[in-house]
Amino acid sequence: MPEEIPTNEELPTEEESGIFVYLINIFLVVIIVVLIYKILRGQQTPPLPPPEPELPKMKKRDFTTEELKAYDGNGPDGRILIGVNHKVFDVTKGKRFYGPGGPYAAFAGRDASRAFATFTVAPGKDEYDDLSDLTPAEWESVREWEEQIDSKYTFIGKLLKPGETHTKYEDEEEGKGETVTITATVEEKKEL
Ligand code: HEM
Repeated sequence: MPEEIPTNEELPTEEESGIFVYLINIFLVVIIVVLIYKILRGQQTPPLPPPEPELPKMKKRDFTTEELKAYDGNGPDGRILIGVNHKVFDVTKGKRFYGPGGPYAAFAGRDASRAFATFTVAPGKDEYDDLSDLTPAEWESVREWEEQIDSKYTFIGKLLKPGETHTKYEDEEEGKGETVTITATVEEKKEL
């Protein structure tokens, strides 16, 4: 059956077509504005959580391997200490690295020297590690890591060998306490 050809009366007038095109344009402009708004809103970063208050500075003291274990970030204050080259550093501000669930949580509360020497992220020995079997190249690696840790974090004291006694450090704030003060240049600390 042939299609019916609309008569002139049925075709929209020029005015009607103009209004129709105008409405379509408005509709398109609204859609574009909504899309641009959504894209820009999606790009906005969510507000950062407030920074956690810093822990008070820890007083200088020495640790046995056993004592160090308490500072793995799971304690009540979340403090994290690690041992490097027979020294102990407070790495709490590097919680995103060493804190629970972090990529280097295995080092928290432990001597990380052997891991640094061998470039592995395995937890060190449970007992004191004298590191006497490390090669010169491995020692070099330990010292490089030590320098990096030392430049960023606070030195707290020595990691004691079995039988070694705790040094009594002079109290920095109140001037109380007695005897030895360790002055903290990297070179001097290396010789401890
Ligand atoms: C393919 C392997 C590895 C990759 C891609 C990698 C990558 C990284 C990256 C991107 C950072 C963050 C640096 C920053 O934001 O300052 C970092 C930090 C760190 N990495 Fe690795 N890493 C690897 C293996 C290791 C291994 C085997 C060790 C252990 C010996 C290690 C120890 C560390 C430590 C201790 C930090 C934190 C340093 C700090 O406290 O500032 N990484 N790593």
